[in-house]
Formats: sequence, C-alpha cells, structure tokens
Amino acid sequence: MLIGIDKMNFFTPNTYIDLVTLAEHRGIDPNKFTVGIGQSKMAVPTITQDTVSMGANASLPILDADDLNKIDLIVVGTETGIDESKSSASFIHQLLNIQPFAKSVEVKHACYGATAGLMMAKDYIKAHPGRKALVIGSDISRYGLNTSGEVTQGAGAVAMLISENPRILEIEDTSVSMTESIFDFWRPNYRDTAIVDGKFSNEAYVKFFTTIWEEFSTRSSYKIADFKAFCFHLPYSKMGKKALLPVLENESQEVSDLLLTNYELSTDYTRNIGNIYTGSLYLSLMSLLDSDDNTLKANDLIGFFSYGSGAVGEIFSGRLVEGYEKHLLKDEHQAMINNRYDLSIEEYEAIFTKELPKTDGIHPLSEAKYDKSHFYLSSISEHQRHYNERQ
Ligand code: HMG
Repeated sequence: MLIGIDKMNFFTPNTYIDLVTLAEHRGIDPNKFTVGIGQSKMAVPTITQDTVSMGANASLPILDADDLNKIDLIVVGTETGIDESKSSASFIHQLLNIQPFAKSVEVKHACYGATAGLMMAKDYIKAHPGRKALVIGSDISRYGLNTSGEVTQGAGAVAMLISENPRILEIEDTSVSMTESIFDFWRPNYRDTAIVDGKFSNEAYVKFFTTIWEEFSTRSSYKIADFKAFCFHLPYSKMGKKALLPVLENESQEVSDLLLTNYELSTDYTRNIGNIYTGSLYLSLMSLLDSDDNTLKANDLIGFFSYGSGAVGEIFSGRLVEGYEKHLLKDEHQAMINNRYDLSIEEYEAIFTKELPKTDGIHPLSEAKYDKSHFYLSSISEHQRHYNERQ
C-alpha cells in the first residue's frame, strides 16, 4: 500500500521583522544575518497566535468534508505547547470540526516531533486502510532579545494530510533514526526562551546527519546520486548546507550542482520566516516544490533529514507522485509571505515582550491592528484559552 502526504499547507503570522533593520539596530553587520546565517525576515507572532491557532490556520485550507469524516488521528508535534496536560491537538480537533471518534495527541522531541507524528500516522494508515491522519508541526521559536540566537527565531505551522494513495509524496518504508542525550539546545519548563550552545548544536546536527546517512545508505542501498533533492530541518537557511556539503565531496559535478540548486530552492521560505521548529523540514519541502520550475518529476526520489536537539534525528525518503504539482498551494503560500506587516524595531520588541495574563478572571485579547489570521486566541477566562474565527 502506498502511503504519504496527500495534501499539505503552512501558516505563518502576518507580522515580521526585517533582519537588516534588526542587524543595524543591534550594531551588527547585516551581511552576518543575510549571508553568514542566510536569513532575510523573521516571523514575530502577536500574543493572539499560538501553537493551536497556527496549527488550525495551517490545516483549514486543505481539509474538505470527506477528510473531516475520515480523519481518525490528529498528531501535533510541538515544543511550545500551551498546556502541560491538555493537548493542542484536542483544541484543533474542535476548531476544525473533525468527526468525534478521533484520537488527538501532542508529541514532543524538540524539532523532531512532527516527524514522529508523520511516522505514527503512516503506521496508523497501514493498519486502517481508507482512513486519514492529520499531522501538524506548530511552534514559536524564542531565544530572547539581544541573544546570539535572536536572528534564528521564527513562528509557524505546517499541516499534512496523510492517506493511502497520496497525491503529493509517497513515503518509503526504510528510515533510520538515532538518539543521543545531549544538551545542545533545551528549554526547562520554567522558561519561555530556549537555552542553546550554538556551536555545539551546529556540530551535533552535522554529526547526526553524517552518522545516520551512513546507516541509511547501507540499509536502503541508496547512494547520494539516486536523489534529486534533499530537504533538511532548517533552523536557519545555511544549516542544512553544512551537513550536505561533506557528503557531496565525492560526487560528480552534475550531482553536486543539482542537489545544491534544489537545496537553495528548499530554503526560500525559511529565509523569509525563520525557524518554525517542528514544521521546518516540511516547510523546506513546500519551498522546494513551490519554487521548482517543473524540473522535478513523478517518481523522483527526495531525501529528508529531521533533527531535534537533545537529540533525535531521522533520515527517510519519499517519491513524488504523478500530478503532484496540481496539489500544491504555491500562489497562496507566496501571497501569505508577501502580504505581511513589516514591524518597526519598537513594535517588534513590544510584541516580543508582551505576556499573556496568568491570573484568575476574564481577559479579552485583541491585536486586531496586526493579527488578521482566520483563527486567533481571543480570550483567556479562568485559565481556559478561547479561540475565535474571523469571518
Ligand atoms: P553566532 O555566534 O552569532 O554567529 O551564532 P557566528 O559567529 O558563528 O557566525 C555565523 C556565520 O556568519 C559564520 O559562518 C560567520 O563566518 C558568518 P559559518 O562559519 O557558519 O559559515 N559571518 C559573516 N558572514 C558575512 N559577513 C559578516 C559575517 N560575520 C559572521 N560580516 C548561531 C550563530 C546559528 C550558532 C546562533 O544564531 C544560534 O545559536 N542559533 C540557535 C541555535 C541553532 O539554530 N542551531 C542550529 C543547529 S541545532 C537545531 O537545528 C535544532 C533547533 O532547531 C532546536 C530544536 O531542535 O528544537 C535549533
């Protein structure tokens, strides 16, 4: 049975900070951000966008009535959940009006969570042919103002409908994961910004890719030259290239050029949004497919490297399905990125430091000047989050 991604979409808040503006304000050479790190713009969510609203906003455009009746499983991968107990998936289940006899769970391992969800969904569909699963990766990446990680923040969500006979990407069975308990990036429960050992995290990422690739190529018998593109988890647009370049060293110029060209296409959305943690790898896939000019064909092999600090990594492969290009939301994606509000430094810092109310009582929330999204967090009353739909 062929199983994989039948539909997919992403959402990012409609407010961002330009990174040249940020660099100049911080007294840093803008080339460090735009060339050295490879980031141009960074999504900055208002307090009315959270893991739930972003996940629901990413999912809504791809689901029809048949999907809502057939989705049995909703998995949200996130490391910025909004409750230690109740899952964001249960809120999203309600907001999207998915049939009641579904299970809704949240899974966590840093940026790896959505891949864990995807693999769970694949196994679920294998055991329940004809049914569907909704996999979401939704996060807000925060290191803090004036930190070295500041330029690698971001926010957004991806949504993927997983089914048999998928219309975009068939996911193959061989995949290799790896776990090693390290502290390259982590966030204790009492903090709302991450702690990171930046250089070590870069090294761990590359080591995970190289080690897993060796095992994956042994188990799958695939060589680098079999792939038309590799998509990476992208905390910033330069990161995947640091992992890709060493494995291209012994490849022909033609293979190397193709993989590097497609790598650049896969980074475009990240460059303009920033790190969206769990959804990042799948944002790279959407960036690649939306930007490609009809060179990728049905049955082309694409490699995927998922990495979550702490650390868990996985490499798997997928093949494009005949007619996949007809099922992409390219125009909608580009419009979303192009029609955002460009924040001033003062607005960025004010939005970044604003906190949700934590006290008893009823707290209406409004950021209507900035937040134009369909679903948004509208109030917190007696510690319960309430969401509204903009008509
Ligand atoms: P930094 O110390 O600010 O930057 O940290 P740097 O000094 O290392 O410079 C970065 C690059 O800019 C270097 O290039 C410089 O040469 C270049 P590279 O050596 O990397 O090729 N540069 C310039 N280029 C042009 N003109 C200039 C200039 N100046 C310098 N004037 C770092 C950068 C990314 C480490 C930091 O922002 C950070 O800690 N970010 C957060 C951690 C992170 O993203 N780690 C990535 C791997 S871990 C991961 O992916 C998991 C994660 O997503 C979390 C999860 O799993 O949940 C983060």
